[in-house]
Amino acid sequence: MNILLLGSGGREHALAWKISQSKHCSHLYIAPGNAGTSQHGTNVAFGVNDFDAIAAFASNNKIDMVVVGPEDPLVNGIRDYFESHDALKNIPVIGPDKNGAQLEGSKDFSKQFMQRHKIPTAGYASFQRENLEEGYLFLETLQAPYVLKADGLAAGKGVLILNNLDEAKHELKSMLEDAKFGKAGNTVVIEEFLAGIEVSVFVLTDGKSYVVLPEAKDYKRIGDGDKGLNTGGMGAVSPVPFYDEAFRKKVEDRIIRPTVKGLHEEKIDYKGFIFIGLMNVGGDPYVIEYNARMGDPETEVVIPRIKNDLVELFKAVAAGNLHHHQIETDERTALTVMLVSEGYPGDYTKGKIMSGFENCEGSILFHAGTSGKDNDVLTNGGRVLAITSIANSIEAAKEISMQNAEKIKYEGKYYRKDIGNDLMM
Ligand code: AMP
Ligand code: GLY
Repeated sequence: MNILLLGSGGREHALAWKISQSKHCSHLYIAPGNAGTSQHGTNVAFGVNDFDAIAAFASNNKIDMVVVGPEDPLVNGIRDYFESHDALKNIPVIGPDKNGAQLEGSKDFSKQFMQRHKIPTAGYASFQRENLEEGYLFLETLQAPYVLKADGLAAGKGVLILNNLDEAKHELKSMLEDAKFGKAGNTVVIEEFLAGIEVSVFVLTDGKSYVVLPEAKDYKRIGDGDKGLNTGGMGAVSPVPFYDEAFRKKVEDRIIRPTVKGLHEEKIDYKGFIFIGLMNVGGDPYVIEYNARMGDPETEVVIPRIKNDLVELFKAVAAGNLHHHQIETDERTALTVMLVSEGYPGDYTKGKIMSGFENCEGSILFHAGTSGKDNDVLTNGGRVLAITSIANSIEAAKEISMQNAEKIKYEGKYYRKDIGNDLMM
């Protein structure tokens, strides 16, 4: 099969690495890809939201399947676009349609969905500009900290957690009246704060049945000890020790099964990944958010632990017979450390020459934000390189990733030194 993968981050490098190992994959194209994905296929220079270019490329290059990495093209309806064109409708797109992608694209939609299907989540109410005053009154009924979420996609920046009521009211006003997050904040979800430990679980579904992929923990803040500004994710670990059998069962019974059943009942033809961000509150799972894609950098630890042929699973998703499949996992621990650019998550530098790749042993180097120029690899993003190691313990996997993180050189390199420390026994 000829496969087109959309995206350019560490998630897409991990997917490209895995897809290219499939016996079903004859040629892999990645649009736009990065310097790492080009090791596993051919990068093609168009953006993930350029549906006309994607369609023309798919027709001209006999593409048999499109795999969508990031959320944007899903929320913008890439699946619907393919299904509505005669020349494209037989090319399966792995990812939900526009309606299904609302699980991520609209917090209000996802909260209502959870309510309809009795899926545990924080209590909430939604507000718009016209009912700002009601929003203030609702905030007064809650205890600090206050959680405000822009309804739409806000590049991971749309969630505010505030310790003080006046500050919460001020931020609500700036979201609703001053468009702090643009259109994404036309509706704001105000939620109860859930105190606990976060863990993410990943599901692949054909819209009716599903397989559960390995869980992972992400490290979101820029600084050690999980301090400082929020980022896309500075590292990840899988499996997660506190995700034990009892918790796993609760997640499947209370969250995963009702989610897939709910989608099916609502006639949402969901074919793709569901990433469920969970809070473990005293041993009980609550949904913090759904995403319509895999996580980044979680994919860089989840995918290497999956032994199945990924394209075979995707074919089953497209054909609607995923119930014939079971996930086989590597029991060992995968840990990834993200190297980032100076300044990230604020304004960061780009175009720095990278070296040291050949000195790294025992890790998989997933490029997150790199580009190739002549024979050089250059930094080309805030998050630059995910260094994944697999070993029998978190300690051992971390040791290997840290040694290799030292060996990669570029100006302004930064990474967290404490990935996995909180999970060590
Ligand atoms: P989200 O973009 O929905 O993942 O939210 C970003 C981060 O905010 C999450 O990863 C959590 O750490 C935190 N968060 C979101 N909602 C809540 C909540 N209801 N209670 C506590 N923390 C939350
Ligand atoms: N690492 C979090 C995300 O992909 O949304």
